Amino acid sequence: MAQAPAGFRVAVLASGTGTNLQAILDRVHGRDGVEVVAVGSDKPGAAALARAAAAGVETAQFPLERFTGRAERDLAIADWLASREVDLVVLAGYMQLLDPAFVRRFAGRIVNVHPALLPSFPGLEAIGQALAHGVRITGVTIHFVDEGVDSGPLILQRAVPVPPDRDREALEAAIHAAEHELLPEAVRMIAAGEARVDPAGGRTVEIGPRPGTGNPA
Ligand code: GRF
Repeated sequence: MAQAPAGFRVAVLASGTGTNLQAILDRVHGRDGVEVVAVGSDKPGAAALARAAAAGVETAQFPLERFTGRAERDLAIADWLASREVDLVVLAGYMQLLDPAFVRRFAGRIVNVHPALLPSFPGLEAIGQALAHGVRITGVTIHFVDEGVDSGPLILQRAVPVPPDRDREALEAAIHAAEHELLPEAVRMIAAGEARVDPAGGRTVEIGPRPGTGNPA
């Protein structure tokens, strides 16, 4: 019997409520060959794990206290993901820095969602940073992960206006709504070969149909 074409295997790491994980499960999981096959968390009680379990996706917990430190913890996560043959690791509200060895092992195969228009406001509390700075427009960035903090090649960005009254809750809601569209879309694009890091070693990401699949002019 002919072998079924291999799917595009996605893992998600999340620390919190997992609304971005849910968006991926709802919008791309099980479509066009994309399968979420593993969800891991540093927080044993993370709601993201319950969302994964409800979708029938394998989960695992990696609390730091079970390991000698971050390097050993991240090696365990990396070995788990490698054993599941994942093609892409999505950081969806994963609030830990990854060990450089993890980033090198999955080089070009890790993406993150950040609640600001990078390179503005990297790191923690990006929404608070933007409000404190007084910007009138902020937004959402999906980017590949390199060894720096929120410094990797940019894949998709969307601007979100700061409400005139600068209400934090309203801004957070608007940013989350944008994240829930952009992150699944980035996963779909990467799986389809429609978002590729500049092969010449640059930091730009080429967006468009996979070379050789477009209609002839
Ligand atoms: C998102 O706002 C993401 O940008 C940030 O953490 C939040 C995670 O939210 N890094 P959720 O757990 O996906 O609901």
